[in-house]
Amino acid sequence: MQRFTLEDREIGEYVTPAGSRLIPSTLPAMRDPAVYADPDRYDNRRTDHPRAHMAFGAGPHRCLGEARARAELQEGPAAQAERRPQLRPIGAPFVISGHSGIRRVSELRVGWSVS
Ligand code: HEM
Repeated sequence: MQRFTLEDREIGEYVTPAGSRLIPSTLPAMRDPAVYADPDRYDNRRTDHPRAHMAFGAGPHRCLGEARARAELQEGPAAQAERRPQLRPIGAPFVISGHSGIRRVSELRVGWSVS
């Protein structure tokens, strides 16, 4: 997520002159031990996410599609699991990669038995 400074800005011990292009990374912020318990542990059942999850940005340009994305991500897998209770991951486990702004998750193959 790129940003341009409109005025000189002090960030930590540096002064960033006006007109600088910044590419801040949200990833370390999402591992902030002041916010998350055991921040380096992957846990998709976490209950300590702040309500305004950083994955959707912040400020006036915060994601406009957040509600839709959340609904799809919650309802889609839940509907699949309900329709196919035998659904199981098969093959290699998924791998999380990437850095800076966006992380990628490799494919997760699933299968089910037909009875
Ligand atoms: C998990 C899915 C999604 C994630 C993680 C995500 C993340 C983000 C982030 C971080 C931003 C802020 C970018 C910035 O500040 O420069 C953003 C902006 C935006 N997103 Fe999403 N997004 C998702 C899904 C969607 C969907 C489904 C839609 C539309 C149907 C959408 C529409 C937008 C729009 C229009 C903006 C620009 C808002 C603005 O500039 O005022 N996003 N998104």
